[in-house]
Amino acid sequence: MSLVRLVYASRSRLVEADRRVELARILETARQLNAERHVTGFLMATPGGFAQILEGEAEHVAETYGRIMADPRHADLRLLAQDIIDERRFAGWAMAFAERDETTQFIFGLYGVSPETEIFEQPLDVLLDLAGELYAPRA
Ligand SMILES: Cc1cc2nc3c(=O)[nH]c(=O)nc-3n(C[C@H](O)[C@H](O)[C@H](O)COP(=O)(O)O)c2cc1C
Repeated sequence: MSLVRLVYASRSRLVEADRRVELARILETARQLNAERHVTGFLMATPGGFAQILEGEAEHVAETYGRIMADPRHADLRLLAQDIIDERRFAGWAMAFAERDETTQFIFGLYGVSPETEIFEQPLDVLLDLAGELYAPRA
């Protein structure tokens, strides 16, 4: 069985008024389904988009991505990577989460994610670096 890591970015279709409630719903469902399949990863959200890293057995990641692609709460998905990996980076997280808000906007900004430059426009290496920084912020 091979362990894979999939990374994609998308445009959010959430409307501002419902965004927080919908984000909480997405995370709750995602964590429940991922825990059953031992899928781990990290979801990054901005008002305009998402970037997500999924790790797990190839068939579980493919099934999960299929479900994610069909979700009308986002659009224009860009599959950025699907690689075999030796170990998980987000082991223990059915889905870690970070949002660009007042406290994190500085870190997002360092990686070029600002209101003008959206997260779905960022290349793979930038998204992986941003995820690493948000996941284990330096003191
Ligand atoms: C940004 C985003 C991230 C998602 N992440 C996951 C995920 O990690 N795992 C998963 O099984 N589904 C994920 N989903 C898909 C939803 O869980 C899926 O659409 C849901 O199971 C069905 O929606 P429902 O709440 O209407 O039943 C994601 C959807 C969106 C929009």
